[in-house]
Amino acid sequence: MTNQSDGHIAIYPGSFDPITNGHLDLIERGARLVDKLIVAILRNDTKQPLFTVEERMEMLSEVVCRFPNVEVDCFDGLLVDYAGRKEATVILRGIRAISDYEFELQMALMNRRLRPDIETVFLMAGEAYSYISSRLVKEVFGLGADISGLVPPSVEARLKKRKGI
Ligand code: PNS
Repeated sequence: MTNQSDGHIAIYPGSFDPITNGHLDLIERGARLVDKLIVAILRNDTKQPLFTVEERMEMLSEVVCRFPNVEVDCFDGLLVDYAGRKEATVILRGIRAISDYEFELQMALMNRRLRPDIETVFLMAGEAYSYISSRLVKEVFGLGADISGLVPPSVEARLKKRKGI
């Protein structure tokens, strides 16, 4: 289904705490497939985030500003309700390894049950990024590792600032 004024709209939802180069690769490739891609940060996350939603929105906005059809937003509640409000027909998710598959399948099937008109589309993570996660980046950075190349330079700078380096 195509929205008459905007064409195909996709939502790329997640925690993005913080955005990694793996996310960025997916955004770049996903944005080529649709007319508008909305990168949407979940607000009511039960995880204890390192960065506030506002900080994550800032970091995302800084790195996606070079893609004219990508927007950054945040949402509360059910993803499919938010997608419906945005008139999106696609939910975009990335799969890194087989270990991601089971949870992603559950979410995709639940979302389809809730909103059969919204399709989840998976992109395989770029091979160079298939081992990167926000959680591991935070962990190794916290223990003193060099994370250049794993996150955008602006995100690395923020992490360093947060740590007082
Ligand atoms: O980056 P993450 O933590 O893997 O993203 C998970 C996210 C935000 C996609 C998922 O938790 C979600 O969609 N939450 C919104 C609430 C919802 O709709 N839950 C039912 C999903 S089947």
